[in-house]
Amino acid sequence: MAKRSSLHGLWSSRLAFIFAVSGSAVGLGNIWKFPYVAGANGGGAFVLFYLLCVACVGLPIMISEVLIGRRGRRNPIATMRLVGEEENSHPSWGLVGAMGIVAGFLILSFYSVIAGWSLAYVINSAAGQFAGGAPEKVSSLFASLLGDWQTMALWHTLFMSLTIWVVARGVERGLETAVRFLMPALAILMLVLLAYSIRMGDFGRGIEFLFKADFSALTAEGMLAAMGQAFFTLSVGMGAIMAYGAYLPEGTSITGTSVSVVIADTLVALLAGLVIFPIVFANGLDPAAGPGLIFETLPVAFGQMAGGTFFATLFFLLLTFAAWTSAIGLIEPAVAWSVESHGQSRARSALIIGVVIWLLGFLTIFSFNEMADVKLFGRTVFENLDHLTSNIMLPLGGLLISVFAGWAMCKNSTAEELDVGTSFTYRAWRFLARWVAPVAVLLVFLQATGLLNAAGLL
Ligand code: PHE
Repeated sequence: MAKRSSLHGLWSSRLAFIFAVSGSAVGLGNIWKFPYVAGANGGGAFVLFYLLCVACVGLPIMISEVLIGRRGRRNPIATMRLVGEEENSHPSWGLVGAMGIVAGFLILSFYSVIAGWSLAYVINSAAGQFAGGAPEKVSSLFASLLGDWQTMALWHTLFMSLTIWVVARGVERGLETAVRFLMPALAILMLVLLAYSIRMGDFGRGIEFLFKADFSALTAEGMLAAMGQAFFTLSVGMGAIMAYGAYLPEGTSITGTSVSVVIADTLVALLAGLVIFPIVFANGLDPAAGPGLIFETLPVAFGQMAGGTFFATLFFLLLTFAAWTSAIGLIEPAVAWSVESHGQSRARSALIIGVVIWLLGFLTIFSFNEMADVKLFGRTVFENLDHLTSNIMLPLGGLLISVFAGWAMCKNSTAEELDVGTSFTYRAWRFLARWVAPVAVLLVFLQATGLLNAAGLL
């Protein structure tokens, strides 16, 4: 088959692609979300189930996204439609791309608000507000941020502007150099925090909480959240990785690259957990405190350590940077789609799409103050957005993507793209993509809706 070429150029090297995908994967999902969802769902069993989902569901779907993306070389909607047609399947596969674009929209609307908290904490840290690290003082500082919607709006606006700016200029690919240095820097800072947690935290209880699995404590809701977290943290199920795959040069190993990214992403999340829970237990804090967890625990550690002001400022700066490279991945599919299908310029597309997302972000901001009592299904607007995207849209998108790669695409095409012939790797991927991933997502969905129980199956 004649190969299509990308409309936006290609990554300069395999390493550039690895950095871009890791930049998209490693973000608030690892450091902010993983600890608080694991905490809210009782740790141990949740963490194990999450790891299982990462390896058996997230990884094959990531590989599928990259291979579909490289074959189609367009935005996710056009890619799924084109490849679908080529495989004599239905062009309506494009709808999967469309759902992904909507998911990216919704996710970025709250993601940017949380990234805004991280920005606010850069200033708080630099101003030495956490000095001493008394847990009560740290909690009250966080509570006052949540209560002040104007401040939150300000930081959200700044973060969205940064995102729009870089996407508008189309310089995402220029970020690879920055990712190359700043990501390892973030990892090193996490190791500094780990040293603190080992010495000053209740490390034993932290480990026990994270790794001692009591499966009777894992609810159906918890399983759904663990699966959703696997999708969210790997950036899969919405076409972000597919959009990046579209710029991947031929001849680059897709499986090897994906495995590296998945391992790196998982290590960062586990590291975050290992840092946070010992601090939580040593200070009598609540592991199930919710979305504020890292903002109420890490400043305690920074406040008590030598050089804490410096480390804290740097940490929140790097966290914001990690969030930024993820935000770019969230908006890229929509922008690529607008450029390719509507002939809009990159700058105009990024601006219009970015402004809509920025406006939507106010719903999340108000969920923590003015609208904290507005609940639907017992959840605030923010909680609903998070639940709908992470736990429903991403897994559903992922299920369809794996069915597409495993069933709709013929063996020749996927084998050609993956270039691992009939090897064990290829067969393992195909088995996971055809059977394990779709069936796992379906079972977790059925279980969470109570349908498995109703059918008397479990
Ligand atoms: N994976 C990112 C994180 O962990 C979030 C993200 C989800 C980015 C989906 C892009 C697409 O922070």
